[in-house]
Amino acid sequence: ANSQAFLIVLLCAGAYLGGSVLFAIPVCRHWKLPDPRALGSGNPGATNVYRAGGWQPAVATLALDAFKGWLPVWLAHTFGMSILVQAMVALFAVTGHMIPAFYRFKGGKGVATALGAGLALAPLTTIIMACLWLAVIWRWRISALASLVAIASGPAISALLEPETLPLFGLLALLIVVRHRNNLIRLAQGRETGL
Ligand code: G3P
Repeated sequence: ANSQAFLIVLLCAGAYLGGSVLFAIPVCRHWKLPDPRALGSGNPGATNVYRAGGWQPAVATLALDAFKGWLPVWLAHTFGMSILVQAMVALFAVTGHMIPAFYRFKGGKGVATALGAGLALAPLTTIIMACLWLAVIWRWRISALASLVAIASGPAISALLEPETLPLFGLLALLIVVRHRNNLIRLAQGRETGL
């Protein structure tokens, strides 16, 4: 029981520290692009990397930020942890991205990290959410709107398909909507910048 508790602490700490790596920043440096925090929305995420350098670095950012959400949850699952522990590890990864140990605790909005963690824990729910995201992007080309629609649908979709993960999707929806408060204000005023 002691070693089990130790492993849980290790997974949570690892998920938080891994989540704290904002891949938008090294990806932009690698592609010789300006720092994503200094342009567009100022958000260190795939959307804003797209504004800085197009789809290639944006997809790299999305994949790496998703991977840091996926890996710790997959490890927790592989070590035989309960769904509740896996959900906690997922939340630590997303929190790491939002309030990182580095970069003076100034992080991003957590969408890509939640995508990765969701794929590891509740693939069906997450794939449907991703389809919703794509549908909104296709129709309106506003990433924040797509993220908000997808994440707000998470609790209902998980309740239907993977109910044991409902607490996770409830908390993710809360956290991610709060992180989009400025986007929400701009959307309400009709002046949100698209992709
Ligand atoms: O996931 C981030 C996206 O929803 C909004 O990004 O840069 O438009 O604020 P941004």
